[in-house]
Amino acid sequence: MRGKLRALGATTVFSVMGSIDLWIKVLHIVAVISWMAGMLYLPRLFVYHADAERKSPISEQFKIMERRLLKGIVNPAMIAVWITGPLLAWREDYFLSPWLVAKLALVLLLTGLHGFFSAQVRAFAEDRNAHSSRFYRFINEAPTVIMILAVFLVVMKP
Ligand code: HEM
Repeated sequence: MRGKLRALGATTVFSVMGSIDLWIKVLHIVAVISWMAGMLYLPRLFVYHADAERKSPISEQFKIMERRLLKGIVNPAMIAVWITGPLLAWREDYFLSPWLVAKLALVLLLTGLHGFFSAQVRAFAEDRNAHSSRFYRFINEAPTVIMILAVFLVVMKP
């Protein structure tokens, strides 16, 4: 009985360890969480930064936080999503599925937003931000809406 249980445990461990697709999915979900964490936090920083006096100590602190978040988390996470997502789609043969086409359109939108946020980090760093905190409060909602739609599409596969 104990021997059978041990064999069953070993089979389970090997079947999980052996599935490359599941490992890619693990990486994909971790990359998605990291990307989204940054895409939700960056515009929040912009909201407070836009109200801070230019060249003040708090403004200089925001510059450091924004640059580190962008370079250390948001950029690498986006690259990881763009590697693992299409890899999953190719390995699981999803490329012609309508839900994936719709999801790709949303991810392109999110990538465009990422480019915009990246330009804002540069603008703040050079003290030439032209937008109000109200604008950033508004744009802050966009990644949330895109994320909800993307997760709905991948889980429901309508
Ligand atoms: C280049 C862009 C992307 C592509 C091509 C892509 C493609 C895929 C594919 C093919 C799967 C596996 C689906 C399955 O096996 O049922 C998957 C899983 C998943 N994706 Fe993406 N994805 C991308 C970006 C994103 C983004 C931006 C999000 C969220 C904001 C996201 C959220 C998820 C989640 C939560 C899962 C796990 C779903 C599950 O296992 O049921 N993906 N993705």
